[in-house]
Amino acid sequence: MRGNFFISFEGGEGTGKSTQIRLLQDRLSGVGCTVKVTREPGGSEGAEDIRTMLVTGDTDRWTPMSEALLVFAGRVDHVERVIKPALKRGEWVLSDRFFDSTVAYQGVGGKLGVDKVRALQHLALGDFAPDLTLVLDIPAEEGLARAGVREADSNSGEDRFERVGDDYHRSLRQSYLDMCDEHPERCKLVSALGTVEEVAERIWQQVSPLVIKRECS
Ligand code: TMP
Repeated sequence: MRGNFFISFEGGEGTGKSTQIRLLQDRLSGVGCTVKVTREPGGSEGAEDIRTMLVTGDTDRWTPMSEALLVFAGRVDHVERVIKPALKRGEWVLSDRFFDSTVAYQGVGGKLGVDKVRALQHLALGDFAPDLTLVLDIPAEEGLARAGVREADSNSGEDRFERVGDDYHRSLRQSYLDMCDEHPERCKLVSALGTVEEVAERIWQQVSPLVIKRECS
């Protein structure tokens, strides 16, 4: 079954995006779709190098503008070398974060301003955008607690943003809620409270109409 749908997953720390992406990948594969799973920052060889610079080290290692320029440098590479070719092959692309993360983390959390981030987005990517963005939502405190447990288990050192204060993380959540209000067609809010299976079912309710649409076309 042909795909061509690009879905991004968004949300603050510890919302369970990676688990939900794996479950959606399994479900789509089960109905005959070919699925490419990817992530940001990263997703291509060069962008993975940039990821390491972004997610490790001191919290004040970069200014918000430097962070935004770094993520967009990686994002252009990721889009041109990985996402667009996969879409062209007729695959579904599921990305763990995309440009809305830059609006939330650098634009709002880092106080760079939403307009500046959207301007960079248009300069770097034109009107290329996900077909659907699923925003997984939980209170910031709960997400940080979940992310802390995950980091302690994996000891990846990729916790530079998790170590920024609680106010920053509360502002991220609000920025995602605002994005869902501003872009209701593309951005769908999904409660990440409850069991993994319950959240997966909420996600499937959003995605299954796309599967039906593709089967009918
Ligand atoms: P992850 O923990 O979801 O893999 O994301 C890594 C971190 O990178 C996360 O703390 C959010 C941050 N980030 C930004 O600050 N700006 C961006 O544009 C992206 C994609 C991620």
